[in-house]
Amino acid sequence: MDQGIYPVPNHWANEALVDAARYRQMYARSITDPDGFWAEEAQRLDWMRPFSQVKATSFSAEDFGISWFADGTLNLSANCLDRHLAERGDAIAILWEPDDPAEPERRISYRALHEAVCRFANLLKARGVRRGDRVTLYLPMVPEAAVAMLACARIGAIHSIVFAGFSPEALAGRIEDCASRIVVTADEGLRGGRKVPLKANVDAALAHCADVDTVIVLRRTGADVAMVGGRDIDWATAVEAQPAECEPEEMGAEDPLFILYTSGSTGKPKGVLHTTGGYAVWAAMTHQYVFDYRPGQIYWCAADIGWVTGHSYVVYGPLMNGATTVMFEGVPNFPDASRFWQVVDKFGVEIFYGAPTALRALMREGDEWVRKTSRKSLQLLGSVGEPINPEAWEWYHHVVGEGRCPIVDTWWQTETGGAMISPLPGAVALKPGSATLPMFGVRPELVDGDGRLIEGAGEGCLVLADSWPGQMRTVWGDHDRFFQTYFTTFPGRYFTGDGCRRDEDGYYWITGRIDDVINVSGHRMGTAEIESALVAHPKVAEAAVVGMPHDLKGQGIYAYVTTNADVEPDDALRGELIRWVRSEIGPIASPDVVQFAPGLPKTRSGKIMRRILRKIAENDVSNLGDTSTLADPTVVDNLLANRPRLE
Ligand code: PRX
Repeated sequence: MDQGIYPVPNHWANEALVDAARYRQMYARSITDPDGFWAEEAQRLDWMRPFSQVKATSFSAEDFGISWFADGTLNLSANCLDRHLAERGDAIAILWEPDDPAEPERRISYRALHEAVCRFANLLKARGVRRGDRVTLYLPMVPEAAVAMLACARIGAIHSIVFAGFSPEALAGRIEDCASRIVVTADEGLRGGRKVPLKANVDAALAHCADVDTVIVLRRTGADVAMVGGRDIDWATAVEAQPAECEPEEMGAEDPLFILYTSGSTGKPKGVLHTTGGYAVWAAMTHQYVFDYRPGQIYWCAADIGWVTGHSYVVYGPLMNGATTVMFEGVPNFPDASRFWQVVDKFGVEIFYGAPTALRALMREGDEWVRKTSRKSLQLLGSVGEPINPEAWEWYHHVVGEGRCPIVDTWWQTETGGAMISPLPGAVALKPGSATLPMFGVRPELVDGDGRLIEGAGEGCLVLADSWPGQMRTVWGDHDRFFQTYFTTFPGRYFTGDGCRRDEDGYYWITGRIDDVINVSGHRMGTAEIESALVAHPKVAEAAVVGMPHDLKGQGIYAYVTTNADVEPDDALRGELIRWVRSEIGPIASPDVVQFAPGLPKTRSGKIMRRILRKIAENDVSNLGDTSTLADPTVVDNLLANRPRLE
């Protein structure tokens, strides 16, 4: 195993913001003196009123509560924009690369972004949006998505971004859950040369959401879309009439900043709520240290703003640090598998942050697509979203980075706001496949199934022993669900849902989810959500969904379906069910395998034994474990006999 250690290159050790000794010293202080450490780190922001308290947190049932910098006030849009104007107003804030390389890129300066944000903020206000109101954004990867986010932050409205790949049903559920009255969208999105009917999807969603009174429509493709009089307004025309200045609202550190829906092991997706001050400190600090970011560098995070990575590392983190952040509308393999690296060359990208699923897909296309580009600007590579397999890591390092660029494998979650376990490139030797060591203030622990602490090397459930500023504060509208989901499995600790190994050097190796969540191409899907979509189909009686290994996606979706008694399951129905799930949730939720089963393995009390279903889906059927508690053991024989042949 030791052969896979990559020491910190000398020039990184000498020149990085944080070297090994400093990492150890800062980490130790962050744990022993959190108030002192975070009071200093928080000075990276402009506060309107300074805070007098720093950390006030407890994970215990008796006095549960999480609050950071509570009496400080600030505005995040001002921290991303206004404070840069004097020094770097003409520097590029957003470098936008369109889906089609033949279309021109856009270069938006901090000054221009500031003006666009102010105008849009004024438009929101003119439509009656006030502090604390929720604004749903359903937008493609265009600069206006960042404008809309920052405009919400400017006036204290709470944005809720819904990934533009989600279906009208999924969008409607998210609009209703947070009761937003306003939706911001585009006529169409463009991805990989294909059009996505965003406005039509919004119209379909709004058939279920009577309370939405305003839809702001950005023209992206110029398609002829239906506009509802009084409700729908054209972005460009409407902002023209608005003033180019808008005073930023003075927000409390604990005032909500955004809601982002994410899947859990049970029920509907949860609205993860992040607040202003702690999130901002976390996003800015981790962006600076993890990427060793220096003003003037060209930085590219290839995530979509529909996911938390896009929030923290396309928009907020980089803009707080005055970065030039690249925003890419397209996909890695359009028009061909060189696209990422062509964009790197076009803009001189120095830091590139991407997802293992994309790397695996590109790796399969062969090295030529990479080698025919220069990539000489690259200095640092990052990975996020799922465990990166050592083979993909080595390829990323040797082929993409030509052995020159450290890789920061960042483990974190929607709930954590930003990177939690990750190497700092000047401080930590790398091991392919390991997210290495904790960020400042993060106290990872491993516990066994009974909650006993595992010391030293070992494997168990990953929990976090204490709060950090970027932690989510609640589940929108359901504070009890927040407590129940994260703090009751192992009382007094935050439960991540991930399994993890710690090696002899104290390095962390995330092994994947241990709850009923599957990670498909770095996107979290709740099995319960897909099951409820399946059973909503008129021909389906029952469904159980588990993850299965998948070469490209990391995990695929394996669905066991019992049809109604009068239905004859066949391939046509299989295709119909896959299309059904796509339309209920979105293409990312499409099952890879649908196995029809006359019955599911259940205990005598009626609980589905997922362990068995997982093993069958993983093709690990030699030892299915104890099946004696099943109500009807022959169900398993039938499942084994009727497994669909996999590619
Ligand atoms: O299982 C872990 C995996 O992604 C989950 C969080 O998903 P989400 O909230 O959608 O956020 C993704 C972007 C931060 C985690 O519970 N995960 C994320 N990053 C890594 C990872 N697993 C292993 N290594 C990572 N670097």
